[in-house]
Amino acid sequence: MFVRGAILSGCLIFLGSTTVFAQDAGRYPPDMAERVQACTPCHGAQGKGTADPYFPRLAGKPAGYLFNQLEAFKSGRRKYPPMNYLLAFLTDDYLRQFAEYFGDQRPALPSRSPTEASKAVLERGHVLVTQGDLERSIPACASCHGGSLTGQAPGIPGLLGLRASYISAQLGGWRYGTRTAKTPDCMQLVAGRLTEDDVRAVAAYLADQPQPADPAPSPGGSYSLPFACGSQPEGGK
Ligand code: HEC
Ligand code: HEC
Repeated sequence: MFVRGAILSGCLIFLGSTTVFAQDAGRYPPDMAERVQACTPCHGAQGKGTADPYFPRLAGKPAGYLFNQLEAFKSGRRKYPPMNYLLAFLTDDYLRQFAEYFGDQRPALPSRSPTEASKAVLERGHVLVTQGDLERSIPACASCHGGSLTGQAPGIPGLLGLRASYISAQLGGWRYGTRTAKTPDCMQLVAGRLTEDDVRAVAAYLADQPQPADPAPSPGGSYSLPFACGSQPEGGK
């Protein structure tokens, strides 16, 4: 924790020293490469992730999704103190530029780490992800995150390339209220219906999947969702 704190205070100095208003030179401000150095110690070069299983990859996620997360950390709707402090004083334009930059990056996908889960656990995860559990009103994860699990623009992230410990921590965050999204918060509804065993099973299964050939999210509105999500306005249309 000491090391992470030290990284963070370095980042704060960095952010303080850069200019906020420099938007007209191309898609990103000219100092974008410098700005993202506040993020890469934890999120890796180009946002490709690091060896730390808890620091998520950012590269290639839908920009709308990334922006929603930055806004959620800034407002405290999603809680992780280092991110909450880092973003507290940044403007929405500044956050949008970070979201677009990381959404556009396409570094190589990480190789998947070997799973310790049993065949039965992985099979349970497979069923929940692809079919859900109708009796318990759990929709298939794929019904929102896509048949290839690469998400839908602008607000639904893909679920591949994340590690099991990160996925279960996020589902736990929704179940216990430390992570919330715009209302209606469909993920809170879904996560609230999962047991601890379900969470373990979907996390192990997702982390064990091969990477998709094309990780790009589907276009907004390309399929309709089983129910509404505040972070995906009008089903993405
Ligand atoms: C001290 C380490 C650290 C630094 C520095 C940091 N992050 Fe994070 N970031 C994290 C962790 C850990 C999470 C996951 C937190 C959680 O929800 O539990 C996260 C989550 C995120 C997410 C949400 C990812 C997702 O898939 O939901 C985004 C977006 C993000 N960070 C962007 C940034 C940007 C942009 C910067 C630079 C301005 C930055 N981060 C700097 C550690 C860091
Ligand atoms: C009704 C649509 C819907 C269903 C069904 C759904 N999700 Fe989601 N999911 C979302 C949306 C929307 C988000 C983005 C929420 C936000 O903005 O924070 C999300 C985000 C996530 C994230 C965060 C990813 C990250 O990078 O931090 C995880 C993990 C996740 N979902 C897992 C699941 C799993 C596992 C299931 C099946 C048990 C599932 N979801 C079913 C809509 C859905």
